Amino acid sequence: MALILGIESSCDETAAALVTSDRRILSHKLAGQEAAHAPYGGVVPEIAARAHADILSPLIESALAEAGVTLADVDAIAATAGPGLIGGVMVGLVTGKALAHASGKPLIAVNHLEGHALSPRLAEPDLAFPYLLLLVSGGHCQLLLVRGVGDHVRLATTIDDAAGEAFDKTAKLLGLGFPGGPAVERAAAQGDANAVSLPRPLMGSAEPHFSFAGLKSAVARAAQSGEHRAEDIAAAFQQAVIDCLIDRTRRAIGSAPGVTALVVAGGVAANQGVRSSLQSLAASYDLPFVAPPLWLCTDNAAMIAWAGAERLAAGLTDPLDTPARARWPL
Ligand code: KG4
Ligand code: ZN
Repeated sequence: MALILGIESSCDETAAALVTSDRRILSHKLAGQEAAHAPYGGVVPEIAARAHADILSPLIESALAEAGVTLADVDAIAATAGPGLIGGVMVGLVTGKALAHASGKPLIAVNHLEGHALSPRLAEPDLAFPYLLLLVSGGHCQLLLVRGVGDHVRLATTIDDAAGEAFDKTAKLLGLGFPGGPAVERAAAQGDANAVSLPRPLMGSAEPHFSFAGLKSAVARAAQSGEHRAEDIAAAFQQAVIDCLIDRTRRAIGSAPGVTALVVAGGVAANQGVRSSLQSLAASYDLPFVAPPLWLCTDNAAMIAWAGAERLAAGLTDPLDTPARARWPL
């Protein structure tokens, strides 16, 4: 059994967690920065980096204290090394390097996307490779064939906006506030998806990828026309995103025979409509559907610690000169 300290700071959540290789989450701490970014309607990279620098070290101390362990008990330190907002990534990675250096424990430089990709295995011990993962967050919208640790095939990605980004921009256009996803979902619950006609970019096309820029422009036109209730636009938008996600995922299932399950991760997986539609899609293919608990779907450090545990078990550790990367495709 190994004990891993995980550190996450690639966007606007500062997080630290202690997780064992036998799937016990001894502690997980998260400090969001929503209030700091809300006046700007989106994440401001420099504000995020400064906030990570202020609170990461005390957060790690409180995660260790809550788990009842010290750095001496830890077997490895796993820190997100990208992709993400580079200032924040550097804060977390350098902190991880310093702790690894001081304690003599190995460093594991985790790709944030692999953190999301492997997190379902923390929640579901029986989830075996290979599985099909729909990763839908504020920064990413991808279909991945997860074949093993460090072994992923990207079947589709977005050619413009990520799904979560589209939710955030729609919320801004409709004056619903930040973060946008939950606000759009709440408004959509009061609206009629059929009251506004919106496009479904790339739906039905043989091309595997996602596209949400055209949908966002159509939302802007609908909002500016003054002809529709914000709730109806929100509902129509959410349904259009769901239709696109389902169509592209159905196509990927067809091109990835032999997968053990359909899995969803990333912040947009918190959306109940997205979850239930994916569940029905999986059922229609007799595939198990795995959706990690909501707190594990959005950014957190337990998923980074878990990816660290999986990488440590595979003998994968990293040198102290490992770079922080803004871009790092899986
Ligand atoms: O995975 P995550 O916490 O951070 C990134 O790595 O991006 O995802 C955050 C994204 C945001 O765009 C947010 O608006 C979206 O997930 N989100 C949602 C919901 N909750 C969060 N989108 C739709 N419906 C939700 N309930
Ligand atoms: Zn993320």
